[in-house]
Amino acid sequence: MKKALLLTTLLLYSGALFSQNPLFIPDTLSGNSISLQLQHGTKQFYPGTPTQTMGINGSFLAPTIILNRGQQVTLNVQNQLTDTTTIHWHGLHVSPANDGGPHIFVIPGQTWSPSFTVLDWASTYWYHPHLHYKTVEHVAAGMAGMIIVRDSIEAALALPRQYGIDDIPVIIQTRQFSTSNQIVVGQHLDTAVMINGTLKPFIQLPAQRIRLRLLNGSIERVYNIGLSTNESFQQIGSDGGLLAAPVTMSRLQLAPGERAEIIVNLTGKQNQTIQLMSYAAQLPNAIYGAAQPGMGFGQQLPGYSNNALNGSNFNLLEMRVGAPGDLPAGPTPSTLVAHSIFAPSQADTTRILTFMSAAMGPTAIQGPFMINNAHFDMNVINQHIPFNNIEIWELQNQTPIGHPFHLHDVPFYILSVNGAQPIASLRGRKDVVFVPAMGNVRFITQFETFFDDSLPYMYHCHMLTHEDDGMMGQFLVNSPFASSVKQYGLQKASVHLYPNPANSEVYIKSTANLNKPLSLEIKDLQGRLLKTMVLYDERARVDISELLPGIYLFVATDGASSFSARVIKQ
Ligand code: C2O
Ligand code: CU
Ligand code: CU
Repeated sequence: MKKALLLTTLLLYSGALFSQNPLFIPDTLSGNSISLQLQHGTKQFYPGTPTQTMGINGSFLAPTIILNRGQQVTLNVQNQLTDTTTIHWHGLHVSPANDGGPHIFVIPGQTWSPSFTVLDWASTYWYHPHLHYKTVEHVAAGMAGMIIVRDSIEAALALPRQYGIDDIPVIIQTRQFSTSNQIVVGQHLDTAVMINGTLKPFIQLPAQRIRLRLLNGSIERVYNIGLSTNESFQQIGSDGGLLAAPVTMSRLQLAPGERAEIIVNLTGKQNQTIQLMSYAAQLPNAIYGAAQPGMGFGQQLPGYSNNALNGSNFNLLEMRVGAPGDLPAGPTPSTLVAHSIFAPSQADTTRILTFMSAAMGPTAIQGPFMINNAHFDMNVINQHIPFNNIEIWELQNQTPIGHPFHLHDVPFYILSVNGAQPIASLRGRKDVVFVPAMGNVRFITQFETFFDDSLPYMYHCHMLTHEDDGMMGQFLVNSPFASSVKQYGLQKASVHLYPNPANSEVYIKSTANLNKPLSLEIKDLQGRLLKTMVLYDERARVDISELLPGIYLFVATDGASSFSARVIKQ
């Protein structure tokens, strides 16, 4: 049966654009040690010339990584490409050295091995390259994958969770192909829709409740998800976790970088065919993917109106319903997970970020866009955040197009969108928020667990063209000693490093009561551990003669708290 189906697909495929292809379901990887090979490849998207691609453990896209909250994981990222890149774990709460931002680049031939404890709630996350100026190119070529985190709270709920059977990864992307079948970027003519890298996909699903893990992995496009039957579905999760309760809806707006888990009830629908669609004709204007992004402002992207997808409704995934599956019938649990959200009055500070266009007037919609009047600069730290600060970020969009804003490090809760309470679907944990054109968003979060006085985290627009053009900034979560309010543990004054700059030796003097030995780690700015020592005494001499000239990070920890400083080796 399966063989016959495949044969039919192949025959149709060679002849016409109208054929349907079985949805590709990425393999899964799990466990404590995961190997990822970044590689060049080719893929036969269309008859004729194969498309040059980049993929992870394959020629296009990447395996789905399945992690359990609380587990330890080491990811060995082996760069077999001829190009430098980085891999970022989008949405995971990890240290800056493990985060895979633009500073943590992996050169060809090198293996980068971040290792961390999974602290995140059960949800759908993803991973993708993040090299400054190269993110669009590397993601468009095919490097992106899904991460599924599981935990005991989610496991106790009666939800579909058989991967690829009733719990389906749905990575939504569009591409522009040249006449020689090659991927083209930057022309806003992305008319080929693909799910998990499959053009015109269909999937056979059991007649029961189905969970779709929607991930907008597109470069720029926003989708307005709905069912061709116009029936409603339930959203159960947003970027960083399950919602407090399912939200019933018939349209779901999903911007680049955002994820949503939805339950589609196919019970009793055996032999029916239902399309998962984007009702882009119903998207409000000033959104990339709507009819006219700058309508009302008299502004339009060059070539925008030639793009057949903009402002029209189109299929994403054909769902063919088969026999009932083995999920017990019954409703989606009416409560999912408890959230405790900070009150605005708990915030230590409000930080304002203003989005602007570099150009004014009719071309303002083309960007490049800036945040607080600056383009991204690898050498400039834009924000210093005291460790454990609770902050409100106020995003003010002064441009004629909406931008999906993404924050690394910690998920946040949205307080308001254009001054009003967010809709139910936006009240869960988020790491991307769509900021409407000329609108504003406020969110609240705490910068907890990790600090580093040298290595920053990123915030940026997740329209990857905007990000590469510099709509990004970076922030340090400073060590507790940099903050007068939230100090704890070792005091800044309690550890001295000298001389600095140093030649071959550094002396460390601690005035702290060393009831516990102090452990010292020397790292480079990519976070690679070069040397460790245990200090039992108030004074120690560290030989650094073997280190190459450069900047190094010295991190002293007494188990409960730590102190870090940059040391310059001459
Ligand atoms: Cu998904 Cu900084 O990115
Ligand atoms: Cu991210
Ligand atoms: Cu943007």
